[in-house]
Amino acid sequence: MVWLKGPNGKQHAVVEDAPEPPPGPEGTPGAAGPDEVHDEWFLTLKRELHQQIVAKLNPGVIRSMKEDELRDEVRRQTETLCQQRAELLNAAERERLVMEVLDETFGLGPLEQLLRDPDISDILINGPKSIYIEKRGRLTKSPVVFADDRHLLQVVQRIVGKVGRRIDETSPLCDARLTDGSRLNAVIHPIALDGSLVSIRRFGAKPLLAETLIANKSLTKEMLQFLAACVQARVNVVISGGTGSGKTTLLNALSRFIPSDERVVTIEDAAELRLQQPHVVRMETRPANIEGHGEITTRDLVKNALRMRPERIIVGECRGAEALDMLQAMNTGHDGSMTTIHANTPRDAISRMEMMVGMAGFDLPVWVIRKQVASTINIVVQAARLIGGLRKIVKISEITGMEGDVISMQDIFEFQQTGLDENRVAQGHFQANGIRPVCLAKLHACGVPVPVEIFERRMLKV
Ligand SMILES: Nc1ncnc2c1ncn2[C@@H]1O[C@H](COP(=O)(O)OP(=O)(O)OP(=O)(O)O)[C@@H](O)[C@H]1O
Ligand SMILES: [Mg+2]
Repeated sequence: MVWLKGPNGKQHAVVEDAPEPPPGPEGTPGAAGPDEVHDEWFLTLKRELHQQIVAKLNPGVIRSMKEDELRDEVRRQTETLCQQRAELLNAAERERLVMEVLDETFGLGPLEQLLRDPDISDILINGPKSIYIEKRGRLTKSPVVFADDRHLLQVVQRIVGKVGRRIDETSPLCDARLTDGSRLNAVIHPIALDGSLVSIRRFGAKPLLAETLIANKSLTKEMLQFLAACVQARVNVVISGGTGSGKTTLLNALSRFIPSDERVVTIEDAAELRLQQPHVVRMETRPANIEGHGEITTRDLVKNALRMRPERIIVGECRGAEALDMLQAMNTGHDGSMTTIHANTPRDAISRMEMMVGMAGFDLPVWVIRKQVASTINIVVQAARLIGGLRKIVKISEITGMEGDVISMQDIFEFQQTGLDENRVAQGHFQANGIRPVCLAKLHACGVPVPVEIFERRMLKV
């Protein structure tokens, strides 16, 4: 019998094989802080209750029950068991326990309460006891913990299994997605040294609309007006940015301007785009199986997509040889196709594109690749996560051609950062640089003219 401390400070006999309280700094048992003892106690109780409930529920009965009835049953069982231990729990704790047992039984355990919070955009799990969350651009440590690494691994396997993928010692890296569309990357033992590492990118219940991006000052209405016209008129747009800068969010928002009668094919590693068109077909890449066979790459899917009579192809992220196929697609009747690329400036995005085309394995001279890039891509939109966590479109640049060996670009709109406010959040303003884009003629020809005044050199109001 092991004695653990209850929330009221009393000692209680809980379970036979409950873990000893963690040793204190000098190795003295029970010297852990009160919160730590409380958490261990709560986790042990939850685990025990969960096991008892699962043991009590008859599999035959479960199969005949609807999910709502099953939830009610689990709630009833939990409450009964809680009542038997009434001395241990106050009402709030009992409710928390019931909720957590329900999450454990039907959902993703401790993750569920984080997923319920619509303000959380990133969940970063560094082992079972260290979870960080990003809320409104700020990263903080969450009090939520898993019981141990086995518990965390069970949850990861549940998620990964649902989308037909696998994670174990032989393939310890995995991309997957949750039912709400969030993207998940997991790295487990033996690659992860201190417990499983999980990174979840959330997009909220509803994707951010272009209007919301204007409302939260990520770009101005003039910038959006121009980008929307470019998308409508099938100008080739690439979205560039660092990790978590808002590339996918912008791609989603801009996709709304694709005319609804067009057939769009999307290709992603873990499907996270949520396009609002009626005629969208989605495809996901597949990693190799345990024998190293069966891999389906983005490149395979782009090639295949060309045979699916798409009007536009959207590749969630270009990071390798598929860049060549994307350029060819954009050049051969699928103009208006879109993708994102990891780069810190529009010029870097172009260099990366060149490098990725080089990875396709055709020994093409640099000038040929460069010429192809310059003649295919029209607009590069640069997204950035600024100091303090704000996400903004910091540049909209146009590729205008080649000057000798160099691709010429002009910045049509940009965000000028002027400093930080007292909370260390980036401050600045958007401006139009007084440049008339070359693609204006195409916009006009496609029946989506934009007034030239929006390009006049001035500061733009948000
Ligand atoms: N303009 C914005 N305003 C507020 N939140 C935003 C904005 N853009 C993106 N976000 C939020 O920031 C997070 C990261 O966005 P997103 O996934 O689009 O970035 P990304 O550049 O595609 O990241 P990755 O490089 O990991 O693919 C998301 O949770 C998203 O909801
Ligand atoms: Mg992305």
